[in-house]
Amino acid sequence: MVVWLLICVIGLMASDHAYDEGKKIYFAKGCNGCHGVNANGLAQYPGLAYRPQAFLNYKLQRYRKKIADNQQSQMMIPFAQELSDAQIQKLIIFLSQYHENESHQTTQRSIKGDGGS
Ligand code: HEC
Repeated sequence: MVVWLLICVIGLMASDHAYDEGKKIYFAKGCNGCHGVNANGLAQYPGLAYRPQAFLNYKLQRYRKKIADNQQSQMMIPFAQELSDAQIQKLIIFLSQYHENESHQTTQRSIKGDGGS
């Protein structure tokens, strides 16, 4: 029982660590330049936050093999090719478990006036 608990705690710490590492990679590799500082997409570039890990992994592996699904996504190939398996793992943990602004959003709410009635 104690051992099992310990494994869980270590597992959680490891995934927290991977999340932070993934975040660093996201900014270091310039992903934010197209996919946004909040990973929610910019103009024609798709949002990546909250997307399923399997989807993110599938796409990044394909781009790394120089397979683009359309002309627009060809620009992903050089960025994906720079990534190691370990970096892809960390990036997809960061993106799929994205939770950067949640507390920010809930504290920003303020009600003015009587609601416009
Ligand atoms: C120069 C702009 C640019 C940069 C920088 C960039 N991407 Fe992309 N990314 C794109 C475009 C364009 C697509 C394809 C959109 C489409 O299919 O229409 C894409 C697609 C993706 C997809 C698939 C999403 C989907 O909905 O199809 C993932 C995952 C992704 N990028 C991850 C990353 C990661 C991780 C990085 C940093 C290593 C990165 N991108 C850097 C432009 C960029």
